[in-house]
Amino acid sequence: MSAQFYYLRRPDINPAIVGLRRLSIRKNMNKKIVMSGIRPTGFLHLGNYFGAIRNYVRLQEEFECYFMVADLHSLTTHPDTSELKSNVHRVLAENIACGLDPEKAAFYCQSHIHETGELYLYLNMLAYKGELEKTVTFKDKVRQSPDNVNAGLLTYPVLQAADIVLHRASYVPVGKDQEQHLEMARTYVNRFNHRYKEVFPEPIAFNYSEELIKVPSLDGTGKMSKSENQMATLYLADDDDTIRKKVMKAKTDGGPTEINSIKPDFIANIFQLMKLVSSDEVIAKFDADFNNCTIRYGDMKKQLGEDMVKFISPIRQKATDILTNEEYLKEVMEKGAAKARRSAAATMEIVREAMGLKYF
Ligand code: TRP
Repeated sequence: MSAQFYYLRRPDINPAIVGLRRLSIRKNMNKKIVMSGIRPTGFLHLGNYFGAIRNYVRLQEEFECYFMVADLHSLTTHPDTSELKSNVHRVLAENIACGLDPEKAAFYCQSHIHETGELYLYLNMLAYKGELEKTVTFKDKVRQSPDNVNAGLLTYPVLQAADIVLHRASYVPVGKDQEQHLEMARTYVNRFNHRYKEVFPEPIAFNYSEELIKVPSLDGTGKMSKSENQMATLYLADDDDTIRKKVMKAKTDGGPTEINSIKPDFIANIFQLMKLVSSDEVIAKFDADFNNCTIRYGDMKKQLGEDMVKFISPIRQKATDILTNEEYLKEVMEKGAAKARRSAAATMEIVREAMGLKYF
């Protein structure tokens, strides 16, 4: 073995690995790495809170976390960037208002980490066109915007894989809709590890099972979502009266006529929403009222409206305070990017070496 390559195989004297060791000690070797991305499109709602953000807040206590605003991904479907800045600011502010702590987790913007683009390029050589064309999200987007089927859209899952493996993350807190993208990330990881060298762990979807809570929409159809009926979704930015009004509009009926009957879906949904924000006594009271047919849905919705206001308004106020403090937002983004770059640089050293891109 020639001298140049010898040192690469001696972890104790290879500068890349020594650097990495130092970083790992700082990073705490025992902690698994968590990574997730949030698209900066629109306002966050209660479904985002209970489905994702609450998980992040818990994860940041236990793991080394990288949470990223996926601004580059948004370019695949939103070429008009006139609202990008305010959307990025909002997503940062709302997540922090919900408890994401930039001192604990690296909270950063995708476009600030240039290594992502490099890794994306390498992973593209391991991603086959036929597989990419079969991705469900790609087919959906083609159907929605047949005039904008760009290569970035086709390789969206490759960029997502790059985001994840850039930090050699093992756990990715995402919802069911992202499972296929994660499976593709695992495919690229395996191809890379086989073709070159064992560099990346296989990333898996991670959720605290008891936290996988359904947040039903207020109109009795499906769950709260950004794109569907805005009146049936409670946003973290809704003001108090809007919250009350939306809750009062929730679908109900004349009430049960038989003792202990089964709740229709839209009523079960109201109880489900109550479970998220109301006290046990309040829920027990309305449950008993339902069972003995004395329930007054008007009262129930009034109570739910007040409890929702109590829950959402401190988050909204905190997010507004953060949004008006650009200096703070800038600091958060810079600090997050610096941490993410350190982790990215260490990975890319290993990647280039594993791929044979080191010539001296
Ligand atoms: N595709 C994800 C979404 O639509 C966002 C995302 C981008 C992401 N990069 C990621 C999620 C990396 C997890 C890991 O929500």
